[in-house]
Amino acid sequence: MTKTNILVTGGAGYIGSHTVLALKQAGYNPVILDNLVYGHRDIVERVLKVELVEGDISDRALLDRLFATHDMAAIVHFAAYAYVGESVTDPAKYYRNNVVGTLTLLEAAIAANIKKIVFSSTCATYGMPETLPLTEDHPQNPINPYGSSKLMVERILNDFDTAYGLKSVIFRYFNAAGADKSGTLGEDHNPETHLIPLVLQTCLGQRDYISIFGTDYPTPDGTCIRDYIHVNDLATAHILGLEYLMGGGNSDAFNLGCGGGFSVQEVIETSLKVTGIPVKTVVTERRPGDPPVLVGSSEKAKQILGWSPQYPQLEDIIAHAWQWHQQRHGKSV
Ligand SMILES: NC(=O)c1ccc[n+]([C@@H]2O[C@H](COP(=O)([O-])OP(=O)(O)OC[C@H]3O[C@@H](n4cnc5c(N)ncnc54)[C@H](O)[C@@H]3O)[C@@H](O)[C@H]2O)c1
Repeated sequence: MTKTNILVTGGAGYIGSHTVLALKQAGYNPVILDNLVYGHRDIVERVLKVELVEGDISDRALLDRLFATHDMAAIVHFAAYAYVGESVTDPAKYYRNNVVGTLTLLEAAIAANIKKIVFSSTCATYGMPETLPLTEDHPQNPINPYGSSKLMVERILNDFDTAYGLKSVIFRYFNAAGADKSGTLGEDHNPETHLIPLVLQTCLGQRDYISIFGTDYPTPDGTCIRDYIHVNDLATAHILGLEYLMGGGNSDAFNLGCGGGFSVQEVIETSLKVTGIPVKTVVTERRPGDPPVLVGSSEKAKQILGWSPQYPQLEDIIAHAWQWHQQRHGKSV
């Protein structure tokens, strides 16, 4: 039986690679489109072993060729830039890649009669929380160009459904973390800005210390609380999102998080428990725009998609990430 082709943009990146693996395991034929600006060719070739089209989502001629030669049932769209700080200093780069690039992809999809897409959005589209946990109907007022670029795509998808019948599942992720249990896939951003890999790199001696931005927040231990979601649980949600669309589901947006949240201090303590290696911490000023608590409710994804996170425990998330980091970067340990 021929397998169903799914185009995965950004499939050589962190969340994309885990989703490609999950798609393969679920019997699909994922085809990756990635310009490899941040993606990893070696992971695609050694681990994922699927077709990699090296190219850009803004290359309309490439997209037209790709859609003419592959009968794609749907698109899972991860490709984007995702550094909040850089989006503030260079917003043009973010609007061009995340918005204009996506627009080109969507126009090519409509022209090829591809009418289903799963899109990686973010909790950054909500901006400063007015109520917690954040639910999908919370006002969306992003406070940086990265969040704005993702919200713009959400609006475009809404209009493309009305005008062209493009059905979308929008996933607003909280903090993606962890690694595949196999130890063969994991988080490898360069530069790295996410807390868990930064702590683990410090454990491996690749960084001297870990900065804690503020210990005077109104939280139990004074450090910021964030909602961490295991990357394999994100991958599973994407399969469920695809199946929902293939079953005739209407366009909708869903939060993906674990709901509870963990503080910076808890992440550092749990890392010590997992690795046995203490890390030096340096307390610095609060960063502007960091809310004390950012956690979401994922009840809607549970109820409508039947999703339920398999790894909600911080210890599992860090243990899987640690296995990957030791394997990928830990030659000196
Ligand atoms: N990591 C998180 O915690 C998080 C949270 C919320 C949302 N997201 C979103 O999830 C998606 C994936 O994030 P990630 O952490 O896996 O990032 P990543 O950088 O590891 O993956 C993105 C991939 O897209 C590719 N890419 C970028 N621009 C491209 C273009 N124009 N054409 C083709 N390929 C391109 C990169 O080479 C990379 O492989 C992004 O859209 C991001 O905004 C991530």
